[in-house]
Amino acid sequence: MTEHPTLSVRDVDKRLRLGGETIVILRGVTFQLERGEMTALMGPSGSGKSTLLGIVAGLDRPSEGSVMLDGKEIGNLSERELASLRSQKIGMVFQSYNLIPTLTALENVQLPLYVPGRNGHRLDRARELLDEVGLGHRLGHRPSQLSGGEQQRVAIARALIADAPLIVADEPTGNLDSDTGHALMDLLLGLRARRGTTILLATHNDSIAAMADRTLRMRDGRLVPA
Ligand SMILES: Nc1ncnc2c1ncn2[C@@H]1O[C@H](COP(=O)(O)OP(=O)(O)OP(=O)(O)O)[C@@H](O)[C@H]1O
Ligand SMILES: [Mg+2]
Repeated sequence: MTEHPTLSVRDVDKRLRLGGETIVILRGVTFQLERGEMTALMGPSGSGKSTLLGIVAGLDRPSEGSVMLDGKEIGNLSERELASLRSQKIGMVFQSYNLIPTLTALENVQLPLYVPGRNGHRLDRARELLDEVGLGHRLGHRPSQLSGGEQQRVAIARALIADAPLIVADEPTGNLDSDTGHALMDLLLGLRARRGTTILLATHNDSIAAMADRTLRMRDGRLVPA
């Protein structure tokens, strides 16, 4: 048991200025994630899921409201502090995979561990994770030599390697066939069972969402009752 929920989001608004206009993307979003909880985030295209995940992952800042990770406000951290927080506490899988095109699968997966003091068994662990996502035979391939679903699995292995307490995943199974998608969910659920990892994942897929402990639904930038 921890004193604080892993993540606490309170009254978050996100507004963007575009030309002379202000667009409101998130309005008064409030929720908490308890340690070890897997939560699915659903909602129509354009409802604000990726925007919310970006804010939760410390990649983007809210216009208003508070985001607390393990009881610590992250909204007012400097860029440097945020970068360090992301490397230690948050594993991210993006909707676009954000793999480095010049690196192999094995090198991409090791990337989050290239920070001082964390260089231990990264090569073995990267191999093991790629094996777990079914890519043990593609270690030396660069992103351009991998299919979309394979690139997505490399991105997931990369998100898992740092053993971060929070995993934020934007449609991690979006480009996978149903069997591979479910296998990936099993991988995430296993991680949660073993390490108490807290997981927030956006998905359009009902059967993927059904594997989570609960579902948050967004519509027009707001959380709505399920
Ligand atoms: N940088 C930006 N500038 C202008 N509008 C933006 C920007 N980022 C997001 N938006 C708008 O905010 C809304 C929410 O976008 P977001 O990507 O969060 O939706 P989503 O729920 O993830 O959709 P999808 O299911 O298609 O991935 C959209 O209408 C989008 O056009
Ligand atoms: Mg999105």
